[in-house]
Amino acid sequence: METPLVEILDTNLQVMANTSFLYIIQVGMKYDIFKALSEKNTEKALQRVKVQNKMLLNRFIEVLNDLGIIHKSPEGHRLNKFLYEVKIFKRDYELILSDWIRFLEKIYEMVDYAFLTHDHPYVSMDFDKDADFWDMRMRSQFASMYRKIIMDFGEILSGSSVIDIGCGSVSPVEFAKQVGPNGYYLGIDYSSALLEVAKSRIEEQGYDWASLKEIDAHIIKPHCRYDVAIMSFVLEYLKNRQRVIKRTIESLKGGGRLIIIDPFKDSFENVAALEFFESLNKDFVGYPTKAEISTMLEEEGFDVNIESPGRGILLIKKL
Ligand SMILES: C[S@@+](CC[C@H](N)C(=O)[O-])C[C@H]1O[C@@H](n2cnc3c(N)ncnc32)[C@H](O)[C@@H]1O
Repeated sequence: METPLVEILDTNLQVMANTSFLYIIQVGMKYDIFKALSEKNTEKALQRVKVQNKMLLNRFIEVLNDLGIIHKSPEGHRLNKFLYEVKIFKRDYELILSDWIRFLEKIYEMVDYAFLTHDHPYVSMDFDKDADFWDMRMRSQFASMYRKIIMDFGEILSGSSVIDIGCGSVSPVEFAKQVGPNGYYLGIDYSSALLEVAKSRIEEQGYDWASLKEIDAHIIKPHCRYDVAIMSFVLEYLKNRQRVIKRTIESLKGGGRLIIIDPFKDSFENVAALEFFESLNKDFVGYPTKAEISTMLEEEGFDVNIESPGRGILLIKKL
C-alpha cells in the first residue's frame, strides 16, 4: 500500500527541525558560545564571543532559550544540563525525501558569513537576489510532494479557480496544469525575479488561464471569488498575518477552502532551531501556530470549519 503523503510531509518536517537542532549545538560549540555560557559571568563572557553580528548572536541565544538548552536566571543565562536523544526509526528514514538536506546544509554554511554581517554576499536567502537558490528549493521532491497534498486536500480539480499567496516560481505551472483551460489560477508574489521564472514556465506551456501578479500580499484586494486559496510556506514572511488571512478568506466562495502548509510551531518539536536558519532571510518573522490562526479566524467572525488532516496542514472551509 502507498504511504499517505501526509505522513511523508510530517516526518520530513520533523526531521528537518531535529537536524537543525543538532546543527544549533554544533554552532554553539564552534563559536565557543557554550563555553561562555558555562562561565560564572555569562553576560561578560558572551561579549567576548568572536561574532561580529551581535544581533544574530542575540537571536541565537534566544533560540537556545526556546529550545530549553539554556535558561535565564537573575545572574544571566545559564546552560542547562540536557539530554538529547537521536532516535533512528527505520520508518522515518524510509519516508525521508533527502533532497532538502543539501539546501539546509547550504543555509548552515551561510551562518558563518551571517555572523560577520547580515549583508554578506554569501548569505544568499533573498527572494530576488538569490532567486536561483529559492527556485532550486521549490523544485525539490519535497515541494512536489506537498503540492500533491494541496491538490488532494484542497480538492483542486480541472475547472477549479485558485488563488496562491506567495506562489514562488514553481507552483504556478503545477497548479495551472491541474486546473486546466476551464479553470483559473492567480499567483501572487512580491518577488519580481521569482515571478519572472514562473512566467516563463507558464508561457512555455501555453497556460493562458494562469495569471501572475507582483504585489505584496498585505495589500491584496481580490475581486474574484475562488474555490481554493493556497498558502504554502509563506505565513512566516508576513508581518500582518491576520490581515492577509482575512482578505484571503473573503476572496473564497461559500464552500471554498484555504489550505495552509507549514511547520506549525505548536505541532512539531524543535521548530525554533529551523527558524534560526530560515531567519537569514530578512523578511522571516517566524513560523505560525495553528492556535494563532484559529484565534484570528474567530476574532474576524468568519463562519468556517477548521480541520487539521496532518501536523503540517491546516484546512479552513468557508461555510
Ligand atoms: C518559501 S517560498 C514558498 C513559495 C511557494 N508557496 C511554494 O510553496 O513553492 C515563499 C514565497 O513567498 C513570497 N513572499 C514572501 N513574503 C511575501 C509578501 N509579503 N507578499 C508576497 N509574496 C511574499 C516569496 O517571494 C516566495 O516566493
